[in-house]
Amino acid sequence: MTRNIIVLDTTLRDGEQVPGAKMNGAQKIEFAEQLKRLRVDIVEVGFPASSKGDFNAVQDVVRSIGDSVSVTALARAIKSDIDAVYESIQAAHDPFIHIVLGTSDVHVERKFKRSKDQILQMGVDAVAYAAKLLPQVQYSTEDASRSEFEYLWKTIEAVVKAGATIINVPDTVGFAEPEEFGHLIYKIKDRLNNLNSNVILSVHCHNDLGLATANTLSAIKNGADKIECTINGLGERAGNASLEEVVMALKVRESLFACNTNINTTELIRTSRLLTYLTGIEVQANKAITGENAFAHSSGIHQDGLLKDKQVYEIMSPEEVGVENMELILTARSGRHAVKHAVEKMGYVAKNADDFEQLFHRFLSLADLKKEVYDHDLFYLITELRERTNKISPLYELESYQVVTNELYPTATVKLQRNGVEMKGSAVGDGPVDALYSVIKSLTKLDTELKSYKINSLSRGKEAVGRVNIQLIYQGKTYSGRAMDTDIIKASALAFLNATNAALLEMVRK
Ligand code: KIV
Ligand code: ZN
Repeated sequence: MTRNIIVLDTTLRDGEQVPGAKMNGAQKIEFAEQLKRLRVDIVEVGFPASSKGDFNAVQDVVRSIGDSVSVTALARAIKSDIDAVYESIQAAHDPFIHIVLGTSDVHVERKFKRSKDQILQMGVDAVAYAAKLLPQVQYSTEDASRSEFEYLWKTIEAVVKAGATIINVPDTVGFAEPEEFGHLIYKIKDRLNNLNSNVILSVHCHNDLGLATANTLSAIKNGADKIECTINGLGERAGNASLEEVVMALKVRESLFACNTNINTTELIRTSRLLTYLTGIEVQANKAITGENAFAHSSGIHQDGLLKDKQVYEIMSPEEVGVENMELILTARSGRHAVKHAVEKMGYVAKNADDFEQLFHRFLSLADLKKEVYDHDLFYLITELRERTNKISPLYELESYQVVTNELYPTATVKLQRNGVEMKGSAVGDGPVDALYSVIKSLTKLDTELKSYKINSLSRGKEAVGRVNIQLIYQGKTYSGRAMDTDIIKASALAFLNATNAALLEMVRK
């Protein structure tokens, strides 16, 4: 009989902890909506006790998806954290509290500097408190894979008796090896069955040795009921088990694992691309499932084999994960019907006729510039349009700019606008982007420091869209800014302004 594996996505919590992956409220909602389309069973929406902003973001995401997807958020084993989770997620239809507390010697002795009994009691008290608030409580035995087994089990037994309904076994530092981790899960499952067979056994693997997917699959083979993953494997350090890899392994090797998930695999690529767009964190080209080359066959022998029969070199079809095989190339002569068909294939549904017209006109301008418009470009137009609709009105807007570059004096002139007031200035710099950033900085009068600047080509073709991701430091905090345009100087200016506006908005909120 095939078992159904519960999939929890923690991109918005473990993934978002990654430096530079921070999303704003509107972006989190957009990503959560996509996770809903992907049909994940549970979304871990954040760590609400970490700041007021995170608390509000968790609440907003819950308002947006909590009526149809189960949600959770993380708490340390302390009352104020548990209260923050409860208050931020209680409105959802199926919420549960997730508590984490270490079980390994190094966590108990070095991190907490307490005795094992004290830590165990702390966990029990936290679960008992949470169980009074919500019927479902997940307990994570942090660093489980490096914990002494009998203490780990004693903790699990005690927290289950206190009311935990899900036990999550994390390989927090990516130390486990598949056979050994599978054995650990087997032993826990066996004892749990005797203790309380209704308790759900979950795993959460990190990828420090590149084994997160293998460890997760091994845990499934050995009885895990639920898995925690992230899109593109985003997460602390080397990341978490990648959702797309685990899900596709279960699908492609269904006869081996005898397990399935509720994931709509045709949404995998779109979810991956949306995450890249929102965070600016690129997927490695040869990454399984979501990498640019995952379905590209380059050698002559392979191409020849594929033409004879796809199965010669393909274990899954690109369509299964949402890569459109027959990509339609649009041009300025493509009509509304073709554009509508192409964007609907990407999951975009216009709210009304005006909404679509806006998109169509932006498509025509891009097609004039680029001649050939690919799916990547449409994706850019859609996300840009969504961002415009979602955005809290930007504080500074770019009116016009001119950059003249030469070896001696690269110079930039920029005109900005803020609440109807125009401002203009010029500056020289070490290069065109440096000159551009100097003038914007002097106009916005914000003492920011550029921490990183990255530029990538988003689409194919000679007239590709350039995407710029930057990070600015202002008063010790890092702010990200992203922008895309066929003109990379314009994208650079917009990215800088977006990061500046993010810093300003935070100041205003405070
Ligand atoms: O890696 C870890 O141990 C975690 C827990 C909060 C589950 O992220
Ligand atoms: Zn983790």
